Amino acid sequence: MKQDKTPLFDTLLDHAKRRVTSFHTPGHKNGRSIDKRLRTFTGRNMYFMDVTVFPEVDSLHDPVGPIKKAQQLMARAYGVEHSFFLVNGTSVGNMAMFLASCRPGDSVILSRNAHKSAMAGIIQSGVWPIWIQPKVDQNLDILFDSSPEQIEETLKRFPEAKAVFVTSPTYNGVVSDLVKIAEICHARGKALLVDEAHGAHLKFHKDLPISAVEAGADMCVQSTHKILSALSQGSVVHFQSDIVDLGRMRRMISMLQTTSPNYLILASLDLARRQVVQQGGRMLNRVIHWAEDARKRISALKHFTCFTRKDIISRGYDLDVSKLTINVTRTGFSGYEIEDILSDEYNVQVDAADIFNLIAIMGIGSDKSDINRLVSALEDIDEKYQGSAQNWILQLPSLSTEMVMVPRDVVLLYPSKRVPLSKAAGQISAQTLTPYPPGIPVLIPGERITQAIVDYLEDLAEKDIRISGQDGDALRSIKVVSLH
Ligand SMILES: Cc1ncc(COP(=O)(O)O)c(C=O)c1O
Repeated sequence: MKQDKTPLFDTLLDHAKRRVTSFHTPGHKNGRSIDKRLRTFTGRNMYFMDVTVFPEVDSLHDPVGPIKKAQQLMARAYGVEHSFFLVNGTSVGNMAMFLASCRPGDSVILSRNAHKSAMAGIIQSGVWPIWIQPKVDQNLDILFDSSPEQIEETLKRFPEAKAVFVTSPTYNGVVSDLVKIAEICHARGKALLVDEAHGAHLKFHKDLPISAVEAGADMCVQSTHKILSALSQGSVVHFQSDIVDLGRMRRMISMLQTTSPNYLILASLDLARRQVVQQGGRMLNRVIHWAEDARKRISALKHFTCFTRKDIISRGYDLDVSKLTINVTRTGFSGYEIEDILSDEYNVQVDAADIFNLIAIMGIGSDKSDINRLVSALEDIDEKYQGSAQNWILQLPSLSTEMVMVPRDVVLLYPSKRVPLSKAAGQISAQTLTPYPPGIPVLIPGERITQAIVDYLEDLAEKDIRISGQDGDALRSIKVVSLH
């Protein structure tokens, strides 16, 4: 079958056009009972595509028809053995990768800056995480995922690890040297799992870094909805492993996904694949050109700056140049404050902000006028606003941590109790505590709380630094494992 075909979308469209009398779920019956305000806004047609599983439209869990064909086309487009469609985003794919590649009690190496769905996978699968501290760059004010050297070193110390999990690209578009990491993993028979949520487009333009499957990853998960044109929640797992069992991966994905998938999301994956294969080169060319232009214009301002691909390559990584990380530290405002100004005053919404940066994600649907609006707003802010100088420094505390209990047991087996922070030393943490900045957990469920960690957290609480996981306005107590 050729890449210009869209078997799943075509089936759904044919079905919707037939205006079939529905005695199946969902209950809105082709949109008839959908609240009028929503239906008036969206029109009715799409609700004829919101169907349930029946032979004509195929089953996500046991595909034999159009879903099977659409997944095969996806696999061919990315050059892998098998692709699985996901309707709960990359989050569910990350969980499935842990469950498929490990058994309870195994261990996996990963960076502490992994997405929260990686922790969910660790809890569900009952594995021991072996954490690598991300590298901090105080010139660029960003963190880097594990380097090949860090991974090799960790594998030497923990040769029993079953897999290595890497986030590439990171939120900032920083891509790891996956070719080297794959070589290191495979020389030792370890599976390389890549959270490539932000990288579904990489394969389709020569000026973008190498994608995970091209670099040799055993599996990767991509949020097709983040940069390409799938609807939100539409993601894909790509599989090409001699180490992980394909049947086990299929079972794990099936276990985690709904039995009532949204067919609009599934069909949008089919269409996004055709679009990127057929027009991706041209569409991404424009996006890359505009992003590079914006990077130069923003860096020419007095108070804003963007790092370049050269900056990142000189640090041993690569950059997805379609993504803009805009450093705001010279404005005297935090990234959160500039995000608010952009949204309130200029009607421009960025994807994320931290103390130091804004992250503006370009997508395959971005337009030149979007970029111009963002850059002109920043030009205006550059002239009009002046914050009171901030002296934030991106740094990680030099605290040693030790996992003494597997996270699954902490979360699922043992009760927990709250103890005052001052009395927590010696206990085992039952929660994740993440100060912002730097956004890296100080404690993870299963780690021993040391006096040095307590001192550090007390210091943060005194300085009014927000700690995700704190119990109220300030961190006064910690949830710990109740062993008795
Ligand atoms: C690095 C990373 N991994 C995974 C995810 C989860 O992806 P999804 O929203 O598709 O579930 C995100 C979401 O932002 C992410 O940034």
